[in-house]
Amino acid sequence: MKVVTTLADIQSIAQRFRDEGLRIGLVPTMGCFHEGHLSLMRKAKEKTDKVITTLFVNPIQFGPSEDLDSYPHDLERDRKLAEKCGVDILYAPDNKTMYPKRFASNVHVAGLTDILCGASRPGHFDGVTTVLAKLFNQTLPHVAIFGEKDFQQLAIIRRMVTDLDFPIDILGHPIVRETSGLAMSSRNTYLRDNEMEAALSLSRSIAYAQDLARREKVDATAIIQAVEKEITRHKECSIDYIEIVNCRTLSSCTIIDSESQILLAVKINNRIRLIDNSQLLGN
Ligand code: PAJ
Repeated sequence: MKVVTTLADIQSIAQRFRDEGLRIGLVPTMGCFHEGHLSLMRKAKEKTDKVITTLFVNPIQFGPSEDLDSYPHDLERDRKLAEKCGVDILYAPDNKTMYPKRFASNVHVAGLTDILCGASRPGHFDGVTTVLAKLFNQTLPHVAIFGEKDFQQLAIIRRMVTDLDFPIDILGHPIVRETSGLAMSSRNTYLRDNEMEAALSLSRSIAYAQDLARREKVDATAIIQAVEKEITRHKECSIDYIEIVNCRTLSSCTIIDSESQILLAVKINNRIRLIDNSQLLGN
């Protein structure tokens, strides 16, 4: 596996792969790899000839009071893990390469970015779509793979790629969880032992919601209320949102059907913001 940091290098490598008729699979990340990231890399390896993983902690997707400065990073550890998954190129540009002086552009997907996480993290998704537009142009992928852990992010990326005619197949990958049920996340490293039960209330309350939806004819409001009750039993938890939406449009739904998706964002001790989601019926 080769580690690349400059724009000239990544562009010439990507172009060479294309000239040789090889299909490129892209896995964009912010590093601190866990099994969630690694499963995306393995899927890319299965589906394409050459895998490029990008590792860039993108400053423009963090709000002023968010964890940009403390975001965990360990390039050497990540390098070894990516190599084991068969990644061909680890592209880790620095801030100056991505955002040189006079950088002034922004990619904005309207509507989908105002709700759910977008409501409490203004500008966050513009940061995500802007960096991804750049990474797509730099790495020229045929396929790009994203986790359903960030369900709204995936919907926004699909919208951007369709709207702006990027010739890229976007693939989603199911959430990878700890055996406890906790959705894997780089931010789980912030959790203290005594915060684990509170953190587990997200996946447990989703399982409870699925149970309710499958066993009884209940509407979205009743499920949301039940989930809220479960989560707020933990004094460490404050709810950012609990919503049930249509999985394709992300618009709120009242009647539960096979496209209903429950999405949660919860803060633990006002320090750690965790998200989780699942289909309510099916699976
Ligand atoms: P990051 O949080 O590092 O996540 C990189 C990719 O891993 C995303 O597609 C995310 O959905 C996926 N992922 C994270 N945890 C997962 C889990 N438990 N199971 C399955 N997939 C999981 O998301 C970002 O970085 C950034 O916003 C990025 C897209 C790289 C743009 O900067």
